[in-house]
Amino acid sequence: MSKRKGIILAGGSGSRLHPLTDVSSKQLLPIYDKPMIYYPLSILMMVGIKEILIISSPEDMPRYKSLLQSGKKWGINFSYKIQNKPNGIAQALLLGEKFLKSDPCCLILGDNLFHGKDLIRALKKADEDISNASVLTYPVKDPERFGVLEKKNNKPFKIIEKPKKPKTNRAITGLYFFPKDVSKKAKKLSPSKRGELEISDLNEIYLKAGKLRVSELRKESVWLDCGTFDSLLKASNFVSKSQAKQKNKIACLEEIAFRNKWISRKQVKEIINVSSSSYGNYLIKVISSK
Ligand code: DAU
Repeated sequence: MSKRKGIILAGGSGSRLHPLTDVSSKQLLPIYDKPMIYYPLSILMMVGIKEILIISSPEDMPRYKSLLQSGKKWGINFSYKIQNKPNGIAQALLLGEKFLKSDPCCLILGDNLFHGKDLIRALKKADEDISNASVLTYPVKDPERFGVLEKKNNKPFKIIEKPKKPKTNRAITGLYFFPKDVSKKAKKLSPSKRGELEISDLNEIYLKAGKLRVSELRKESVWLDCGTFDSLLKASNFVSKSQAKQKNKIACLEEIAFRNKWISRKQVKEIINVSSSSYGNYLIKVISSK
């Protein structure tokens, strides 16, 4: 079990996915056979986090509450907090201050999908180091779209948000581990030129203090930020192909909860009883194989 609390940031305007997001929150759109938010949620569950805050907009919050409810069905406990305007990713740490109560945390963006063998190792390493902040980087073709980490003498040197001329192809992914002082540190931030409290500025504070650790995910792992039509399709294709090949589902919350021993076989059976899709058939296999 992790000592951390988790935050999923699932707000924003979703304008880059118009008209898909005209009446649906981006993070509720399907990635093949599950809502997008299942994927980042599965990462927090794999880290072993049971206390999770969902942050979203006033319009979308009722849908998250209706989908996720109390969390009891997966042995977790959800809290909810509204973000009135998308004022920046780092605002999540201010909105989450009361929830965190000075506990270390893990923040994940609701549109980020991770998968891969070296991911588990990276998650474990970052989770155990509760006195430092940790980020995960991934090699990308279009680093100018992301926060980028530059290194000097093989040490983290500088973070640049959406650099015009990136000096490296290593993007900082939307998964951040912070120590207990993070809300205090977030209070020191001021809005950037685009009017947002930038997560890169928050990470830069830890970097300058020598308290930022970095795990470099290998290319063989998968990281997708599902914020464009193409990445949305790519993510669905990846999940569909990978599940067909491996005969295992990615981000099956009931399976993770069951294997973590957070829910019983009886509880999974109750979910199977109300599911008439192939998702239910998969869960039957999960509880029969143990
Ligand atoms: O995906 C990783 C990247 O995410 C990082 O490399 C960047 O450093 C980081 O700034 C961020 O870049 P994006 O341009 O992808 O951020 P975006 O504004 O698209 O927001 C990411 C998600 O967070 C999106 O699903 C909407 C949500 N969000 C964003 C903001 C600014 C909120 O819920 N509230 C917000 O205020």
